[in-house]
Amino acid sequence: MTRRADDGSGIAPRKAALQILNSVYQERRMVSHLDAAAGLAAPERARAERLAQSVLRHTGRIDTLLSRYLERRPHPAVQNILRLGAIELLLDRSEAYGVVNAAVAIAKQARPTRGAAGLINAVLRKLDQEGPEIWTGLGPQTLPVWLRKAVGGAWGEAATRAMEAAHEAAAPIDLTLRDPSAHFSLGDRLPTGSIRLPRQTQVSGLDGYDSGAFWVQDAAAALPARLFGAVADQSVLDLCAAPGGKTLQLAAAGAKITALDLSPIRLRRLAENLKRTGLSAQLVTGDVLEFAEAPWPMILLDAPCSATGTIRRHPDLPFVKSAREVEALTKLQMQMIDRAVALLETGGRLVYCTCSLLPNEGENQIKAAVKRHPNLHVLPIDTTALGVDPAWISAEGGIRILPHYWADKGGLDGFYMALLQKR
Ligand SMILES: C[S@@+](CC[C@H](N)C(=O)[O-])C[C@H]1O[C@@H](n2cnc3c(N)ncnc32)[C@H](O)[C@@H]1O
Repeated sequence: MTRRADDGSGIAPRKAALQILNSVYQERRMVSHLDAAAGLAAPERARAERLAQSVLRHTGRIDTLLSRYLERRPHPAVQNILRLGAIELLLDRSEAYGVVNAAVAIAKQARPTRGAAGLINAVLRKLDQEGPEIWTGLGPQTLPVWLRKAVGGAWGEAATRAMEAAHEAAAPIDLTLRDPSAHFSLGDRLPTGSIRLPRQTQVSGLDGYDSGAFWVQDAAAALPARLFGAVADQSVLDLCAAPGGKTLQLAAAGAKITALDLSPIRLRRLAENLKRTGLSAQLVTGDVLEFAEAPWPMILLDAPCSATGTIRRHPDLPFVKSAREVEALTKLQMQMIDRAVALLETGGRLVYCTCSLLPNEGENQIKAAVKRHPNLHVLPIDTTALGVDPAWISAEGGIRILPHYWADKGGLDGFYMALLQKR
């Protein structure tokens, strides 16, 4: 592959970062679906991705700051050059001369931004002098208006601010061990058993990676599969299984798993994960709403959701998701719960979970489900066995986790989970 070498002034990675930003903000595309930096050599590519992620993570705060220097909102491409320059000046504390020169040079290369080169020069120079103090005073603002309203309404202003701080702080890397009792010499072991490593850790280079002794999984995401307790030799239906973090946990605990997912591409990743870890499961490509094989003693439903609990890892998410999309997902989750209840045997247990901050995808789904199904009830959760704070148990009996929980340990992804039984 030909490499687009950086010309020494750092223009190439900055332009790639801007391409990522334009795609996320304007086309509402997730960073994971983009290859804007694909032609760059590894260090430039890493720089481009880091810059774009950093701008995405701080967009609300940058825009509030920039609005002080702009009479009206400029062309989106101009705004993105300003956002990038602001991050370099205020967060990276890069030398102003290089940052401003690069921003102006990039602006001059394209039609929609050419006329704004003077404005960009002036605003960034002012930001360099006045910005740092104002930046600190503004505080994190990571949620777009619609999501902030929903999150604030559910959890209150103080918790929402704490979540935004957790989003800005980003997430460490958590590992789940194939053998939870195994010794692991690196990182910290959380009370839940997950191993926590610094964000920059190159996981594929760690001892035990090739032999599949662990896999990357946020500590909160590692809890739902454990709600069943002992699963050895039991049949478990894992609905919405790919890429398979929870399938691996259940398989490692000795369950006989049938793992179903709609996406063949994601199921292929699950198959690769099983291969690396030496674990096995029966894989089925299919739609939960059409799956009819039954009955099952245990079903895990990790339903598709807004994924708003994972903003620490995916700062692009707030700009890609919409309130309307979440509404459609909420309806799908309800239909999936009904399907899962139909597939359960009498006495069988269902774990429902979502990585969402929104009660409509969590607590409210369970409250509504037990109303729709008088034969369904919520089972108590053994918080001591899980290693979680008993205060996380919600009113209807599930577990609610928000990103600022265990902030002193590095936070957690937002999650909701509940254990139910069919009578
Ligand atoms: C939250 S992710 C699952 C994560 C997975 N359980 C894990 O632990 O790695 C949701 C999954 O639901 C799948 N999905 C979405 N709609 C579906 C449907 N109608 N039937 C089956 N799977 C579906 C998606 O392809 C996606 O892989």
